[in-house]
Amino acid sequence: MAKCSIGLMGLAVMGQNLVLNMEDHGYSVAVYNRTTSKVDDFCNSPEVKGKGRNIVPCYSLEELVANLERPRKVMLMIQSKDPVPAPEVDLYPNNAAVDAVIAQLLTLLEPGDVIIDGGNTHFRDTDRRTKYVESKGLLYIGTGVSGGEEGARKGPSLMPGGSPQAWPLVKDIFQSIAAKVGPNHDIPCCEWIGPRGAGHYVKMVHNGIEYGDMQLICEAYWLLKNVLGLTNDELYDVFAEWNKGDLDSYLIEITRDIFSVKDDKTGNSLVDYILDTAGAKGTGKWMSQLALDLGAPSTLVTEAVYARSLSAQKKARVAASKVLVGPQNLAPYAGCKKEFIEAVRKALYASKICSYAQGYVQMQMAAAADGWDLQFGQIALLWRGGCIIRAVFLQRIKDAFDKNPKLGNLLLDDYFQTEVTQAQDAWRLVVKTAVERGIPCPAISGALAYYDGYRSERLSANLLQAQRDYFGAHTYRRIDCDESEIFHTEWISLRKQPE
Ligand code: 6PG
Repeated sequence: MAKCSIGLMGLAVMGQNLVLNMEDHGYSVAVYNRTTSKVDDFCNSPEVKGKGRNIVPCYSLEELVANLERPRKVMLMIQSKDPVPAPEVDLYPNNAAVDAVIAQLLTLLEPGDVIIDGGNTHFRDTDRRTKYVESKGLLYIGTGVSGGEEGARKGPSLMPGGSPQAWPLVKDIFQSIAAKVGPNHDIPCCEWIGPRGAGHYVKMVHNGIEYGDMQLICEAYWLLKNVLGLTNDELYDVFAEWNKGDLDSYLIEITRDIFSVKDDKTGNSLVDYILDTAGAKGTGKWMSQLALDLGAPSTLVTEAVYARSLSAQKKARVAASKVLVGPQNLAPYAGCKKEFIEAVRKALYASKICSYAQGYVQMQMAAAADGWDLQFGQIALLWRGGCIIRAVFLQRIKDAFDKNPKLGNLLLDDYFQTEVTQAQDAWRLVVKTAVERGIPCPAISGALAYYDGYRSERLSANLLQAQRDYFGAHTYRRIDCDESEIFHTEWISLRKQPE
């Protein structure tokens, strides 16, 4: 019996859709799932059996491996735990499951075979697994797979990293199933990212930027709803309009759609019945933690993670809402409704630019720390299609890095610099209005604070250094001396004696 091109373990919807996508592109796929009834359900389904697809059911890892052509390639799509109402503490507990399956596969595969992890895995785990699997003579790939269930079926964005020798073995399969972009829709949103955990790091940054984008959109929604009192039908029209311009993107598009969906129980907008406590599987949290480790000021993703955490404190917020007051007796917004909607659009776009700028700065710092040679323009192209943050905007980032591959911050690119400058007044009006009316906008206001900080030649850290030296003799440098010179002052002996 002919051997299959690739094997896939993990038949949740993402896994099933990747298998169907691979088979659509002429690859035969052997499939396995720990709960074997899922193998039967999938392989006997009208989509598979009914269409006579070249998909082989396997009921053990041994059988899966036995059905593969050499060098054998086994892709793991092992789900993380279902999201809980509040951001989890133990992130992606699929970790143990992945290590256990790798251990089993190492007893079945041979040197030169490839193990592929397509889950949202922490890059340090992929670092470790690449090293371990390579020590056994096999090859390892940790790949980001972005685009959700629909993306897996129709064309995800793929961000592979790991053993470089593995890339030629999977390149054709990966690039054939990936989303396609470009004027001829023939550029695959899949390219080799780099060694060890580089691919999973870039996927994590994608997710962190996704968190920021989602938070920014939610703040824009909340401003339009609470300052202008827009109905969901009016919100639908606003997001539909925004999706025709610079904000054209998957997340704006689905936000538009969400305002059109009615609740079948009440006939009203479903979105108004959804409990306002955000979940998270945790990749955004990883990006924040790693930003702190690097000293990368990735404020947007961090504000987005905190906003999810605060939203999850629903009981506390309900209790607090009964005792804590905000601005009282607010008059209806006196400004022009249309102008404020445009101001929010500009504030959203300028904040988005800061969010992506931060994500790229973090990738640059991580690449320097881990010795990766990341191709930043190419990463933007990978994100141009298929993934959750896919947007016209990403072509602008690709153009910026094509112009200057060494660009230190997106804000310094002519296009983005112009856009943010032109948006500034609107951005400040929106933040001012939010503050005056007590509407929480941590991401939009945080992005403005980042922008104002980044463009400042001097900041207040001179006083902070004085404080650190005063109480802890942590020393400081001077603006009028060489950076290598450090100073300490005996502040107590020199201070004006308190009366
Ligand atoms: C993607 C998504 C996906 C992520 C979900 C849930 O790229 O397809 O980013 O990988 O798991 O968006 O993420 P949170 O539960 O952390 O919001």
